[in-house]
Amino acid sequence: MLHTGRHFLQIPGPTNVPDRVLRAMAAPVIDHRGSEFAALTAEVLDGLRAVFGTRGAVVIYTASGTGAIEAAFVNTLSPGDRVLIFETGYFSNLWRQVASSFGLEVDYVPGDWRHGASVDDLEARLGADDRRSIKAVVVVHNETSTGVTSGVADLRRIMNRLGHPALLMVDTVSSLASMDYRHDEWEVDVTACGSQKGLMVPPGLSFNAISEKAIAAGRQAKLPKQYWDWTEMIRQHRRGYFAYTPATNLLFGLHEALAMLQEEGLPQVFARHDRHAEATRAAVRAWGLEIVCANPREYSSSLTAVFTPEGHSADRLRRTVLDQFDMSLGTGLGQLADRVFRIGHLGSFNDLMLAGTLAGVEMGLRAAGVPHREGGVTSALRVLAPEPVKAPASID
Ligand SMILES: Cc1ncc(COP(=O)(O)O)c(C=O)c1O
Repeated sequence: MLHTGRHFLQIPGPTNVPDRVLRAMAAPVIDHRGSEFAALTAEVLDGLRAVFGTRGAVVIYTASGTGAIEAAFVNTLSPGDRVLIFETGYFSNLWRQVASSFGLEVDYVPGDWRHGASVDDLEARLGADDRRSIKAVVVVHNETSTGVTSGVADLRRIMNRLGHPALLMVDTVSSLASMDYRHDEWEVDVTACGSQKGLMVPPGLSFNAISEKAIAAGRQAKLPKQYWDWTEMIRQHRRGYFAYTPATNLLFGLHEALAMLQEEGLPQVFARHDRHAEATRAAVRAWGLEIVCANPREYSSSLTAVFTPEGHSADRLRRTVLDQFDMSLGTGLGQLADRVFRIGHLGSFNDLMLAGTLAGVEMGLRAAGVPHREGGVTSALRVLAPEPVKAPASID
């Protein structure tokens, strides 16, 4: 089918890349060992430190998010080390797979894909670890397959209360620059992220934010590494350079995206995401559909995952929306395949884009014959544009 106008890319990442970022990337490649490049790297690292909430080391890899996950492990751990990973969904499973393929021993804390990591489970697991054999605790801050968040600060509080020395590793691939995140304040040891979601840059860059404790752990780490070895990268980054040829033009884009985030202000960026998520949930409830996230305190602000009614294929709905209205929605992943569709509302986004997105879903529900109530879009519009507060009547 021929489509006119603009495609709506409403998967939960890669996200829409703003024109400003696209234009910044459309520039001649520069010498990555020259002074202009060194100044660019310094500014990009400063901007990244602000979004990670850290004053410590940040490393930039030419890779997707999985590269940063692999880097987190190989730089800090040794074969046979135990890692505790919370099952939150498809992406916690990715961490488990990466850990297993490096010969790490994984304690996978079972989850139901509708709740975040449980502090009670953490307390029980770490409390039972008298020999302190667990070397790292891994949690996905925002599980992109389910739209469920985990309370990183609460998990850290438990680790501190028990005086457990394990490293805390956090995946922020779909939360950074969309939701409040504080690498230093929450005492995270390694944060892993990618460029293609809240950071509004095409896929291809990934990052580790690294605590001093993680750097110290790295001195004993025996897992094999070369490309991911962060020691040489940190040394080169200090001077504005990379250990290998960097993705120069993606860095131009990231520089522009970080400037945009700074102009809007991170608190405003987070509030915008919160508001769009709330409006989306209002639409889903009005349609009479079920949100995957079962605990309102754990709602994601960057995406909403929605069950289609029993017996109705979520993939057929997504196909209808794509074919008829030229909008991409996120697919159900792993055990949620064909049962769930995901609405991405993160990155470069505004009220009218959200209204269009939700209109596309509502039209798709009709066109695909998925049972629902009408009026979801109207409910969302009420959140986006509440009626003005009436001025109190004058008393004279
Ligand atoms: C939470 C989370 N972790 C890890 C990944 C893997 O990142 P990538 O596909 O960029 O390698 C993703 C990808 O969407 C993700 O959403």
